[in-house]
Amino acid sequence: MSILAPSILNADNMNLGSDIQEAIDAGVKRFHIDIMDGHFVPNLSYGPELVENFKHDFPNMEAEIHLMSNNLEVTIPAFVEAGADLLEFHYEATDEVEKWLNYLKDHHVKAGLVINPDTPVEVVKPYLGQIDQLLLMTVKPGFGGQRFREDSSERITQAKKLITDAGQDIKIEVDGGIDDKTAEIAKTSGADVFVVGSFIFKKGPIAQQILKLENVLV
Ligand code: DX5
Ligand code: ZN
Repeated sequence: MSILAPSILNADNMNLGSDIQEAIDAGVKRFHIDIMDGHFVPNLSYGPELVENFKHDFPNMEAEIHLMSNNLEVTIPAFVEAGADLLEFHYEATDEVEKWLNYLKDHHVKAGLVINPDTPVEVVKPYLGQIDQLLLMTVKPGFGGQRFREDSSERITQAKKLITDAGQDIKIEVDGGIDDKTAEIAKTSGADVFVVGSFIFKKGPIAQQILKLENVLV
């Protein structure tokens, strides 16, 4: 079963709550919250208070935190404390992947590992026993509204094989440039979770855009 995770990065900041509510009314159960630290990526977004407010106002919604930061000593505990249900951090951001995966486990937060489009997929192999989700970036992280990279399908297929060979039950997520066309391509290659930003929040009525995606994700 495919999961749709709208990224609020491209929602209307001045009407964030109502954009989120519209997506919920259209059937969404999980939101993807992009955290950018201005250092690991050349952009800044939200702090932990946004996540706290989100969980306060929408307690039944899953908060999936995509942490684009390499100051993990500070940022991981802060977002765990703020109420992350699932936290995914970048392989490229730390030499202590295992330590942070253990930290998330100890704090009962689902763990995700993220790799950039230029990072070889095999690097995740040693961690497959410890993660719930693998996020394959389909654009260079930092900004919404970029083009889906053509080599992504091959990477998804490769990741799917690694996971199957390891006998693990790990969801493959894609993030960046996903619309109704690229979602279909990614799904055919083996993706399970689809992060969608601008296509949902910038290209037409939210409910209508979600319906377009659901039509290809069923
Ligand atoms: C990019 C972020 C994405 C982004 C997706 O760094 O990780 O989640 O917001 O936006 P779109 O769907 O517009 O590419
Ligand atoms: Zn993201």
